[in-house]
Amino acid sequence: MTDMKHLLSIEHAAPADLRQMIADAATWKRERGRHPRQPLAGQSWAMIFNKASTRTRVSFEVGIRELGGSVMFLSAAEIQLGRGEPIKDTARVLGRMVHGAIMRTYRQADVEEFARFSGIPTINALTDDEHPCQILADLFTFEERRGPIQDRVVTFVGDAACNVATSWIFAAAKLGFELRLAAPRAFQPAPELLARAGGRVRCTEDAHAAADGADLLYTDVWVSMGKEAEAAERLRALAPYQVNAALVKRARPGALVMHCLPAYRGKEIDEATFEANADTIFTQAENRLHVQKAILAWIVS
Ligand code: CP
Ligand code: NVA
Repeated sequence: MTDMKHLLSIEHAAPADLRQMIADAATWKRERGRHPRQPLAGQSWAMIFNKASTRTRVSFEVGIRELGGSVMFLSAAEIQLGRGEPIKDTARVLGRMVHGAIMRTYRQADVEEFARFSGIPTINALTDDEHPCQILADLFTFEERRGPIQDRVVTFVGDAACNVATSWIFAAAKLGFELRLAAPRAFQPAPELLARAGGRVRCTEDAHAAADGADLLYTDVWVSMGKEAEAAERLRALAPYQVNAALVKRARPGALVMHCLPAYRGKEIDEATFEANADTIFTQAENRLHVQKAILAWIVS
């Protein structure tokens, strides 16, 4: 066991660690059902979720069990956290009982505080700022189908200021690909964030120009969890940023279309484009499981 590891963001992840997890995911995928390693044997993990989840929840629950560990799902609303017990107290209690924690919530600072006070490996399972586990699965899926992502062109279309887009932004410099963000001005990331990230990242309001020759077209929901009050304004402003046949035509022939799910047909992607790319999109969802194992194995090593 080396120093305590966490996966709290892509921003603060080391490129070598990202590379290791992506490579290891391929092994976990190949060896599913006959894993020679059980890195979580004898361990109990807690999942503290303050937002809905299908993929992240199921992939971690199954992944932890298949790595020899046991897992408890704690809905934040049903533990004392939901009645106002401070994060730092919850963290110090859980840190004395379980071996690792996975947290989905609103504020990035809350996951960081949990990691600091719990003293156990902590994984960000989505905050308002980042979704690092998702982006690792996306990178793995791209490379599984198309080879190294280095120097390829990724175009993110839609709410380019959301958590998933932000994790893509921080991945670009670390893994050396070009990232284009197509969004209305109000849904583009802050210049300060782009400066922090570095790398080849460009923002535009022109989705078609951004898609030109792209190797990957990527989108996410227009109304992220917690933004429901802004739904009407978001649907109006983002309407021109749908991934559809006209947009796909601008990309490189054979370009991948990916979506982190859940998908809202007729909004960020149309039904025909979604179904035409369903095999990639559901492989991307499946890969969450293989990548979660890689993250867990890395974090306890
Ligand atoms: N993509 C993703 O994180 O899905 P869930 O919200 O269902 O976990
Ligand atoms: N940006 C979305 C991702 C869902 C997996 C949200 O935060 O709701």
